Amino acid sequence: MPSSVPDGRNQTGSSVDRIRLRRPDDWHVHLRDGAILRSVVNHTARQFARAIVMPNLRPPVTTAAAAAAYRDRILSAVDPGLAFTPLMTCYLTDTLDPLEVERGFAEGVFAACKLYPANATTNSAHGVTDVRNLHGVLEVMQRIGMPLLIHGEVTDRHIDIFDREAVFIERVLVKLLADFPGLKVVFEHITTAEAVAFVEAAGPNLAATITPHHLHINRNAMFEGGIRPHFYCLPVAKREPHRLALRKAAVSGSPKFFLGTDSAPHPAADKEAACGCAGIFNSPCALESYAMVFEEEGALSRFAAFASENGPRFYGLPLNEGFVELERLPHPVPARMTLGDQEIVPFHAGETLRWSISGLEGLEKS
Ligand code: NCD
Ligand code: ZN
Repeated sequence: MPSSVPDGRNQTGSSVDRIRLRRPDDWHVHLRDGAILRSVVNHTARQFARAIVMPNLRPPVTTAAAAAAYRDRILSAVDPGLAFTPLMTCYLTDTLDPLEVERGFAEGVFAACKLYPANATTNSAHGVTDVRNLHGVLEVMQRIGMPLLIHGEVTDRHIDIFDREAVFIERVLVKLLADFPGLKVVFEHITTAEAVAFVEAAGPNLAATITPHHLHINRNAMFEGGIRPHFYCLPVAKREPHRLALRKAAVSGSPKFFLGTDSAPHPAADKEAACGCAGIFNSPCALESYAMVFEEEGALSRFAAFASENGPRFYGLPLNEGFVELERLPHPVPARMTLGDQEIVPFHAGETLRWSISGLEGLEKS
């Protein structure tokens, strides 16, 4: 049984109205913690079998014990009946003990480490001030085959915010890859044509995730008729040619690009503020949102590669057994949602998407 369909058209030329997809994974998500966790995680678990869970809690997840405890809280928040595996990450700091990383990976608690340049984004104050401080940790990770996930932006205030990803490649990434040629690296949530070209040209140890919002919006979305805080995230959306380059990469079938939503919920009031925080909450309709992109690009036959195959292959994990079915049915996205005790505005708020998840085969816990 094919796990996807031909490019948006069936043999009679009429439009495809069902997509059967090997159950996908989300290789970058913020599930948060506390009262909101239960609502947040089930949006992810409804679609994805596994997710790489970001460690930027307050305080950040820097020990295997903290990651194991967070994993337990996540698992107890997942609706009974949904089979979901959180893959935990370790938040790198200037002073993290390489032994902690090695032990956490060996125990099956840590799946990867996350590098936030200090103050690059939400809850990254404890991040890394200089990659040279990580050499001991990176040596260990290279030796044990543990992936490094990078928020790839410089934090230099003299660099224009729209250039920070491209400058990160030149100033940090090139040297890091040269110093650690055996290290598996994921360039997270890429937003530029420069990042696409760099990942394509690099060796097989470098891959990238792409979010749904960076495939749908360019930077104009933040300023359409006024300031639009719900389209603000980091890395910030760029000009249209960058969005087009990301779409081309995502639908290319290249094993170097895979799904990572970077879904990052914040209370609406924290975004609709004089200093609104960064993050777009897209998990309620992530798969449907990506499906629209693949359909528009005439590339539904490559949707499974991006959503369900390239990620596990890069991480060295088995493909999922279950399937998910999407149907061409109008999918209205609410203007606001209540999660726990928070009001949150989701991505695509107030729009009607073309696809809905209609079936979950082999998804449920037996
Ligand atoms: C993320 C968050 O809110 O945790 N925000 C975002 O804009 N993407 C942090 C991050 O991944 O940069
Ligand atoms: Zn993120």
